[in-house]
Amino acid sequence: MQKIQVGDKRFELFLGITAIAGRIDLLAKQLNKDYKTKKPIYIGTLNGSFIFMADLFKKIKGTCEITFTKVSAYKGVQNAGQITTQLALPNDLAHREVILVEDIIDTGITLKYLLEKIYAQNPASVAVCSLLLKPQAVKYHFNELKYVGFEIPNEFMVGYGLDYEGLGRNLCGIYRPVN
Ligand code: IMP
Ligand code: MG
Repeated sequence: MQKIQVGDKRFELFLGITAIAGRIDLLAKQLNKDYKTKKPIYIGTLNGSFIFMADLFKKIKGTCEITFTKVSAYKGVQNAGQITTQLALPNDLAHREVILVEDIIDTGITLKYLLEKIYAQNPASVAVCSLLLKPQAVKYHFNELKYVGFEIPNEFMVGYGLDYEGLGRNLCGIYRPVN
């Protein structure tokens, strides 16, 4: 298989656009069914989820709001779990049906942080839709995680919105590292 270079690392295709599109179709169908009679607010996490969100929302039907938040988890050994906010969550989530849209859940530290902030506003319900989940890396159990695109191995993926040191977000598929 053809290898590509992103920064100082080599990657190979892991999930192609057809597989991703097929899975997004099913996620959208499930969301459309579950929220048919509701008016949810979708909150996408930047930057990583921008392509996933764009493709997902072409398939989401019915009345809904769409907005974004941006936080970064600093992953130094000493400071694991320290999170900074670049774009705050909306502050009017009380009594709303909230759906958080993530690109990837790795340790789950970012998700735990965002869920705490969302619950503090007393929403009607909270669900999470993540394109990718690393079951071997995640440190918490999330009941909210009802919509998962793919469970993936504990490797550093790039492409389809995900970056490696700022690069590779524009790759069409999702790529895994090779030696
Ligand atoms: P968590 O807080 O450990 O769950 O990490 C969440 C964030 O880490 C994601 O939103 C990504 O920005 C980044 N991240 C984790 N794993 C990967 C990966 O495999 N590729 C690219 N970014 C990743
Ligand atoms: Mg991210």
